[in-house]
Amino acid sequence: MALWQRILAEPAALADDYEMLWQAQLSDPRSYFEDIRSKFNATHEPHFLLYLLARCVKAAVRYNRHGAFNQGADNRRLGAKPATMRARLAATSKALTGAMALTRDYTDALRSADLPDVVYMDPPYEGVSNTRDHRYMAGLSRERFVENLSDAIARDVSFILSYDGTTGTKSYGKPLTESLKLTHLHLYAGKSSQATLNGNTAHTVESLYLSPALVSRLGGVGQVMARLVPAEAEPTPLWA
Ligand SMILES: C[S@@+](CC[C@H](N)C(=O)[O-])C[C@H]1O[C@@H](n2cnc3c(N)ncnc32)[C@H](O)[C@@H]1O
Repeated sequence: MALWQRILAEPAALADDYEMLWQAQLSDPRSYFEDIRSKFNATHEPHFLLYLLARCVKAAVRYNRHGAFNQGADNRRLGAKPATMRARLAATSKALTGAMALTRDYTDALRSADLPDVVYMDPPYEGVSNTRDHRYMAGLSRERFVENLSDAIARDVSFILSYDGTTGTKSYGKPLTESLKLTHLHLYAGKSSQATLNGNTAHTVESLYLSPALVSRLGGVGQVMARLVPAEAEPTPLWA
C-alpha cells in the first residue's frame, strides 16, 4: 500500500527513484538485485519493492514465513526500462485520480461503499490460501467472506469479484454459493505463470462474479455478455 500511495501521490518522483536503481544495476544486475532485496527487507521502502517487482521471476511475488521477500531475479531481463516505467506510473496515477490506498480489512471498505460506487475485489484464492500451497501470509475465511458478500448484496452494492479458477484440469476452490445470486463468468486469463514456473504449459480460466445490483445497472445479463467482446488472438472465453 505504501507503493500504491507513492504511485498515486508522486509518480514522477517514484519514476526518478526507479530510474536511479535501474541505472545503478547495470554493472552487475545479479548481485544488485540481491542487494536491493536485502535493503527492501530491512527498510520496506516502496521504490525498492517496485524494482524487485520489475525484476523478479515471472513477477511472482514470494515472501518467506517471516514476511521477507525471497523471490529470485529473472537474470535474462533487466526489468522495464525507466521510460516505460515512468509512462506506466503516470498513466496509472492519472487513471486512479482521487483514489486512496488504505491499509485496512476489506470488510470496512466494503461496508462504506455507497450506491454509485463499484467495488472490485481480488481476494486470495481459496484454492491456494487454505491448502499446503501457502502463497499468502493469511488466508481468507470463506464463511465470513460469504456473510460479507450477502450483506453487500442486501445493500445493493455493485461489486466485481475475482475468485478462484481452473488451470488445465486443476480447479482452485469451490464456486461461490448459488444463494448469493451472483452472475458467474469464466474468463480466459492466458497461460498460467505458475505452470510455466513448474515447466508445464497450462491455460488459466478465472472466475469473475458480478453482484445483482451491478448486473441490473448494466441492463441485465444479456447486456453484460454483449459488452464482453473477446480480445483477438485469444481462445473464445467460456461464459457460464
Ligand atoms: C490476489 S491478491 C490481490 C492482488 C492485487 N489485485 C494486485 O493486482 O496486486 C490478494 C490480496 O488480498 C490481501 N488480503 C488478504 N486478506 C485481506 C483482508 N482481510 N482485507 C484486505 N486485504 C486482504 C492480501 O494481502 C493480498 O495482497
